[in-house]
Amino acid sequence: MRDKSFHARTVAVTGAGGSLGQALLRQLHEQGAYLIALTSSTAPLELLDGNGQPIPLQQIRWQCGKEEDLRSVLAEVDILVINHGVNFHSERSAEAVQHSLEVNALSSWRLLELFGSLAAADAWPAGDASPRPPRELWMNTSEAEIQAAVSPLYEISKRLQGQLLSLRSLDLAGPQLRLRRLVLGPFRSALNPIGLMSADFVAREVLRQVHWNCGLVIVTPNPLTYLLMPITTASRWLYFQLVSRKAG
Ligand SMILES: NC(=O)c1ccc[n+]([C@@H]2O[C@H](COP(=O)([O-])OP(=O)(O)OC[C@H]3O[C@@H](n4cnc5c(N)ncnc54)[C@H](OP(=O)(O)O)[C@@H]3O)[C@@H](O)[C@H]2O)c1
Repeated sequence: MRDKSFHARTVAVTGAGGSLGQALLRQLHEQGAYLIALTSSTAPLELLDGNGQPIPLQQIRWQCGKEEDLRSVLAEVDILVINHGVNFHSERSAEAVQHSLEVNALSSWRLLELFGSLAAADAWPAGDASPRPPRELWMNTSEAEIQAAVSPLYEISKRLQGQLLSLRSLDLAGPQLRLRRLVLGPFRSALNPIGLMSADFVAREVLRQVHWNCGLVIVTPNPLTYLLMPITTASRWLYFQLVSRKAG
């Protein structure tokens, strides 16, 4: 029997037209989710299931910088997967700096804040014995948070994305919002044509670890990441707890 762990849950994925976006949508469909594909592209996204049948999904166009326009859509979403990203490889122009920070780090942070505010406003009827499961946000950072990726701007922007997630999770994570960090090694896509893994393999492994209820989801052939990433996130958590405080 098919695993239907995401049965009737609405999942929105950014970067839906990319390799991992499409692979995640296919896997989530198999596991019973309603799909919202958030894409910056105007091209229609047509995905097929294992039997060659079209996968039902709602496609919504969005743009970095206009995250607030997604408020009404995200209000209906149970799980938001922040997955969009760019890689300028060896470029270091001012435009490449701006675009990398904007797409990889700042738009992800704005979506985190937006979804966090929606989760905080969730109210369950008093005495409801079976409230709906908390909303979830999965943020796809990268192994580049802590490892070299032969792409300085990619590393800088992914580190900023990961650090903002660590800092803001101190206030945003809680009973109404479960945050998960996806730390992935190299897989093949437009962003990284020579990746070792396939996007389908990575998507399957991500969902497997989500089913184990991991907050830190790591999929990579690099053993160092399994050792260093938990230490990095724990030491950031401790440092940010000690030297920052909640507003008000
Ligand atoms: N490939 C790897 O080795 C690797 C390793 C670790 C982590 N990652 C991360 O995995 C995620 C998915 O990457 P991928 O490898 O699947 O690459 P991909 O196939 O190039 O997909 C990335 C998608 O991000 C979206 N995007 C790009 N520029 C955008 C912009 N300006 N505004 C909004 N959306 C934009 C696009 O999707 P739409 O056209 O649908 O908007 C694009 O297809 C990224 O966050 C990447 O950093 C990748």
